[in-house]
Amino acid sequence: MTDVFDVERVLAELTLEEKAALTSGSDFWHTDAVERLGVPKVMVTDGPHGLRKQATSADHLGLGESVPATCFPPAAALGSTWNPDLLRRVGVALGRETRGNDVAVLLGPGINMKRSPLCGRNFEYLAEDPLLAGDLGAALVTGVQSEGVGTSLKHFAVNNQESDRMRVSAEVDERTLREIYLPAFERVVKQAQPWTVMCSYNKINGTYASQNHWLLTEVLRDEWGFEGLVVSDWGAVYQRVPGLVAGMDLEMPSSGGRTDAEIVAAVQDGTLDPEVLDVAARRVLTLIARALPALADPGTIDHDAHHELAREAAAAGSVLLKNDGVLPLATDDARSAVVIGEFARTPRYQGAGSSQVHPTRLDDALTALRAATGTELPFAAGFSVAGVAGSQDADDDALLAEAVDAAKDAGTVLLFLGLPAPDESEGYDRTHLSLPANQLAVLRAVAEVNARVVVVLANGSAVTVEWQDHAAAVLECWLGGQAGGSAAADLLLGVRNPSGRLAETIPHRLEDTPAFGNFPGDNGVVRYGEGVLIGYRWYDTRKIDVAYPFGHGLSYTSFGYDDLAAEVTGAGADSAVRVAVTVTNTGERAGTEVVQVYVGDPEAAVLRPVRELKGFAAVELAAGASQRVEIELDGRDLSYWHPGLRRWVVGGGRTVIEVGASSRDIRATTEVAVTGEEIVLPLDAESSFAEWLAHPAGARVLTPLLPEGMAESEMGTMLSDAPLRSLIGFGMVDPGADGLEGLLARV
Ligand code: BGC
Repeated sequence: MTDVFDVERVLAELTLEEKAALTSGSDFWHTDAVERLGVPKVMVTDGPHGLRKQATSADHLGLGESVPATCFPPAAALGSTWNPDLLRRVGVALGRETRGNDVAVLLGPGINMKRSPLCGRNFEYLAEDPLLAGDLGAALVTGVQSEGVGTSLKHFAVNNQESDRMRVSAEVDERTLREIYLPAFERVVKQAQPWTVMCSYNKINGTYASQNHWLLTEVLRDEWGFEGLVVSDWGAVYQRVPGLVAGMDLEMPSSGGRTDAEIVAAVQDGTLDPEVLDVAARRVLTLIARALPALADPGTIDHDAHHELAREAAAAGSVLLKNDGVLPLATDDARSAVVIGEFARTPRYQGAGSSQVHPTRLDDALTALRAATGTELPFAAGFSVAGVAGSQDADDDALLAEAVDAAKDAGTVLLFLGLPAPDESEGYDRTHLSLPANQLAVLRAVAEVNARVVVVLANGSAVTVEWQDHAAAVLECWLGGQAGGSAAADLLLGVRNPSGRLAETIPHRLEDTPAFGNFPGDNGVVRYGEGVLIGYRWYDTRKIDVAYPFGHGLSYTSFGYDDLAAEVTGAGADSAVRVAVTVTNTGERAGTEVVQVYVGDPEAAVLRPVRELKGFAAVELAAGASQRVEIELDGRDLSYWHPGLRRWVVGGGRTVIEVGASSRDIRATTEVAVTGEEIVLPLDAESSFAEWLAHPAGARVLTPLLPEGMAESEMGTMLSDAPLRSLIGFGMVDPGADGLEGLLARV
């Protein structure tokens, strides 16, 4: 491996052509080398939940073979852990495998918001909430990068669907961008400085992300302080030169020299400032130089330890949705159980597309349950997953009959259901939220002959659960990675206590979901009409009943909340609230509670969600133990994005602090008074009558010109939203010889 080179010295010696070549890949997975100056090429590769290093073939759709690597649970499960410390450890393991395989950058994590449960790639995203996705994403990045290799935070930004993903324009107002779609990225950038950020394929309000100067330079670098490199998603470059100017440094994969030539020509004809190219080339060189020390020292990979960590993470990311007491299975119950469902034998453990990892090994729940119980538990496949999802064919009839037969005399039925692999993938969205009909037929038939049916789910994004009355317990395992099978067994048998919490709401019906009617758009445009009301923000504010709320998850123990206290310090943007609550494990076994702090701002001048997650902590408690949990909220946690001022504003006033075990299981509430900022909107020729009166200087100038009592009159109220220029036009206000301009000048 080459010695680390001096970036500035190399930059000074590069030719124009070499600089241009550096800003695009040399092939599908490598940067370009400059051999004469000792700059090697380095490899970048997917990501996110394991390494997909293609040794020979190359594609970005997960089709070709890759080297074996630990397949950790995909983000859907990792998000449900609500546990940054665990994700940091997973990150370290990912970093070690990246480095050990001579790869400089792992292309992940993906932290886009789960806007609709239909998004085909939701399994690769962490949450429907930006705080949760941001904190977990930062933990992953910190972990990976602690090994001396980089990450690529993706897909920046507003890539919340697969339909038309390479062209669609996401039409989103700025407040919604700032409060919902950007802050997870902002948190990761500020907390963890990912080495690279990957820009998305789509347009945002008409401009491709890959050539969006506002996004890639003004927001990402100037406001958030991003220091790394922006890489394009694979094939996301539309026009290379405007992209470079916007702040898109590295085009991937290689364009075969075509776009490099465009850059060279633009510098030569004076349309591209050579300094812009220098900046991008410097960032690529810096990235390469940064990775070299770790790549020179690959370290060792402990695959057994990583498998164990994958098992821990899969268990921590599984959510016990419902339990009438049947779980955990006592030893005798476990030995008399029957296992039904093809997924127990043939696990669905990751999603399709660029994130598809070739696992080092693969646990299935059937083998794990048999090993743990020391019993050859009977098994029936119940349904086929090979056929078209939802179809019930002759084969299924026979499998169903066999399952019912097996269920009849069993103590408990462990029924493994889930989405067939083709139902969710990169590249296209889902069309419905249902489990296949052939699987539900088995559930109903089995429930008729056995009252103790435990449903274990495998799916990468929410499915509706209208069938749940047929189940005594429901364990949502998402996609569990290579150790998901043994993790499910651990939870069913009580070897581990469930601690996962929903990072996405489970709705009753597709029609209830926030983006319904606006997702995935048409004719090249998707309108984010629900604004800031995504996920639980929508359901809770609109009081829509859900099957399982955001933050929900049961445990084999129970928790009590006492003595909520909230103390405010400071004012305006410097306001802070210290929230403290005592959490007690009131049950009989050790367990982990996820304490969630929500904030409401009922007096805000704009529509705000009734509650928003602003803090959380996973607390491990022995039976009977208590802990005082403290969570600090800062001014930003109390702010909204003011569309007029185009900045964060602490509106202040009555502020509701709720602490709970889900967004619908609030255990304690208190209110504090926050001193808000004085908001003075600048006046202009379009300002309304009311805006003039609300402006201190405006009111001083205008009031003497108004007829006596006009401001308070019915007429005044009716005209409050009319521009002052109209009132002048109607002859109701006499601005004097200098007209409206004169009034504005005096303000
Ligand atoms: C995906 C990225 C991935 C890249 C490289 C793209 O199609 O959107 O997430 O990192 O391919 O495989």
